[in-house]
Amino acid sequence: LGNGLAKTPQMGWNSWNFFACDINEDVIKETADALVSTGLAKLGYNYVNIDDCWSELVRDSKGQLVPDSKTFPSGIKSLADYVHSKGLKLGIYSDAGAFTCQVRPGSLFHESDDAKLFASWGVDYLKYDNCFNLGIEPEKRYPPMRDALNATGRTIFYSLCEWGVHDPALWAGQVGHSWRTTDDINDSWASMTTIADLNDKWAPYAGPGGWNDPDMLEVGNGGMTYQEYRAHFSIWALMKAPLLIGCDVRNMTSETYEIITNEEVIAVNQDPLGVQGRKVYSYGPDDSLQVWAGPLSGQRLAVVLWNRGSKTATITTKWDVLGLESSMSVSIKDLWKHEYVSKNSVASFGARVDGHGCEMYIFTPSTVTHSAF
Ligand code: DGJ
Repeated sequence: LGNGLAKTPQMGWNSWNFFACDINEDVIKETADALVSTGLAKLGYNYVNIDDCWSELVRDSKGQLVPDSKTFPSGIKSLADYVHSKGLKLGIYSDAGAFTCQVRPGSLFHESDDAKLFASWGVDYLKYDNCFNLGIEPEKRYPPMRDALNATGRTIFYSLCEWGVHDPALWAGQVGHSWRTTDDINDSWASMTTIADLNDKWAPYAGPGGWNDPDMLEVGNGGMTYQEYRAHFSIWALMKAPLLIGCDVRNMTSETYEIITNEEVIAVNQDPLGVQGRKVYSYGPDDSLQVWAGPLSGQRLAVVLWNRGSKTATITTKWDVLGLESSMSVSIKDLWKHEYVSKNSVASFGARVDGHGCEMYIFTPSTVTHSAF
């Protein structure tokens, strides 16, 4: 699937986390409008992805998928035209099984027909789910859709939604542009932290062209606090996760907006080096004081101090856990305060971090200069 996509993790919006099956063409159009009017599109959120429940319960007499006539009466082609007219891209959803999870027809054994249909509609992205898979191995079910998408000649992003069952990080790099590493996220601190830890394990397998997918963002859906959502967004950005907004962007609070529009955090996610940041150190009660970090282009580092405990605490990182010489002088920019907090830290850096919150920084080591000159 070397079609040049996914040099950096995909960004956009998906209908599932907020709307589930309660979708229709107006919601999708209004979302496209909102992505543009709020400025989110300009920040890179350019895929508008329809999840499960867009189709009729059965194929037509020719065996083709049909958009639900009540909720998508104008059809997907006209929706794609609308989304494209806004400068955005349209994503659709199907399943590598007999049915989708919400029991619409699946694409297993219909790969070529369905890929052609999606391409003819002008679809730019396919999320491919794993329900009703007849017990056939995913390594057999996912490549046929890759080949069918390629054969259409249209450039289509291919997102594998296999839930991490058969360790897709080990094989999906040859199949799609991203692969889910875990079961579904839900809008809670427990789910978000569990998924972050599970996804961390697969860090070495991510890179330009293919990304680990710890599932879509819950920021703005109401089940977590401001601090928790900020940590969710920071860690997803650091882990080079797809940044797929999962809230109702027609109706966001200013806190939600502040989080998902943080350009410096987005730039960490979209950094051209494309190395997934990792948990590099943890200590304290239940290992709740954590340092997550990863390299960026230009010899910089992204560093997140994440307090997994519920009380405010100081978290300190030493240079050695970041792979720096302890004598190295480092300038440190706080990506949530948007200011430099130090121009010349040496050996270690610490900060007070709210319970369940994080602070995120870019560390720029100064060029080594020689006093003799
Ligand atoms: C399971 C997937 O993991 C979810 O992201 C969502 O697509 C649902 N299926 C839809 O039924």
